[in-house]
Amino acid sequence: MVRPKTEEEIELMRINGELTSRALAEVGKAVAPGVTTNELNRVAETFIRDHGAIPNFLNYEGYPAAICASVNDTVVHGFPSDYVLKEGDIISVDLGTKYKGYNGDSAYTFPVGEVSAETMKLLQVTKASLYEGIAAAVAGNRIGDIGHAVQSYAESFGFSVVRELEGHGIGRDMHENPGVPNYGKQGHGPKLVSGMTICIEPMINAGTRGVYLAKNGWAVHTADHRNSAHFELTVVVRHGKAEQLSTFDYIEKECNFKF
Ligand code: MF3
Ligand code: CO
Repeated sequence: MVRPKTEEEIELMRINGELTSRALAEVGKAVAPGVTTNELNRVAETFIRDHGAIPNFLNYEGYPAAICASVNDTVVHGFPSDYVLKEGDIISVDLGTKYKGYNGDSAYTFPVGEVSAETMKLLQVTKASLYEGIAAAVAGNRIGDIGHAVQSYAESFGFSVVRELEGHGIGRDMHENPGVPNYGKQGHGPKLVSGMTICIEPMINAGTRGVYLAKNGWAVHTADHRNSAHFELTVVVRHGKAEQLSTFDYIEKECNFKF
């Protein structure tokens, strides 16, 4: 059984989600051609520590950095490196903060300079599929309703849903039950209860859905080497409408791209 959070716990997660959201926007402002993904990692880690929180990815099951920096055909869990971003790339930045014992976790896929219209569509559709999932994350629904909402939306544009990785509950641990797949059947899976805190994180491929794990044991790549996008928000299940505990508002106000 998944224990719903108390309002006191949710308040701490709201504060933390705010910090995660602002950290992601700081990174977004630094994304540009010529910048390395190591530099983005430093921006995130500095911002998080300067605000009295801990980068919760660092050392998580041995993960070596504060962010995941997943470029182009990397779906998730790319290590920051000396790779230099170039015009036309896309980069999923995934990061989290730990504050007063609770975890935040969010991701956004940024365009680097001008990207193709097709790539812009992938970003738009993946982000919108996340909001479709959030709209289904209401008390009384089931986990499968979220996955169905994400999947049916993304596939209606001819894109495909990665199935090997999924969203998750979140709280004192970054990954709690239930798992939140991005595909599924309406009315199936665990019931959603008011106060459950979950991360919904569609990973959507431009081409086929197949992926493989890199030799470093972390990075996940598309099998066809086409682009993949990833957006993640933390929400609390409520009656009628989920409440977002993290937001893209700072990114969308402070970064100079539109989609
Ligand atoms: N944000 C990722 C997730 O949603 C967590 C990254 S795993 C880590 O599951 F090891 F990088 F922390
Ligand atoms: Co997550």
